[in-house]
Amino acid sequence: MILMHDIVRDGDPVLRQIAKPLTFPLDRHYLKLAHEMMAYLINSQDPKIAEKHQLRAGVGLAAPQVGESVQMAALLVPDNDGKIIFKEIYVNPKIIAESTRQACLEEGEGCLSVDKNIDGFVPRPDKLTIRYQTIEGEQKTIHLKDYPAIVSSHEIDHLNGHLFYDRINSKTPFELPENTLVIS
Ligand code: CO
Repeated sequence: MILMHDIVRDGDPVLRQIAKPLTFPLDRHYLKLAHEMMAYLINSQDPKIAEKHQLRAGVGLAAPQVGESVQMAALLVPDNDGKIIFKEIYVNPKIIAESTRQACLEEGEGCLSVDKNIDGFVPRPDKLTIRYQTIEGEQKTIHLKDYPAIVSSHEIDHLNGHLFYDRINSKTPFELPENTLVIS
């Protein structure tokens, strides 16, 4: 079981590396890792289990955040009522198209690897087309918008060595490009 002390924190160089692509069939080690990453997200969103194990709630977890510099990320995205609207494990994901229109979360973003709150809007493309492989090696292409697109962008950023605050305008953290969708 992945616990908070297994999660690599900002300052560790693994978070700034470009993660390596995985080859198929996935090694048992990475299959296990995929399941453990998803289990973390499921447990972290369950108030009782989260309290018992002191888990910080997460909607996405990328392999570099547990010290594995490989192109894999788990996503478990709920709506405002807690209903899961997107669940997937990406292997070797690539953003192959994105909207010029930007979107951001009204509350800003957080990250399991960043312990302090960093205020500011984090503009990202509102719509993405992502090509990836499932853990079974099936190639998929999906179109996402709004919150699932934002979480996907955040996780794919991790695979490229970027953290959410890299996208905050440090001089004007609460100014947004015209026509940016603010998601509450
Ligand atoms: Co993160």
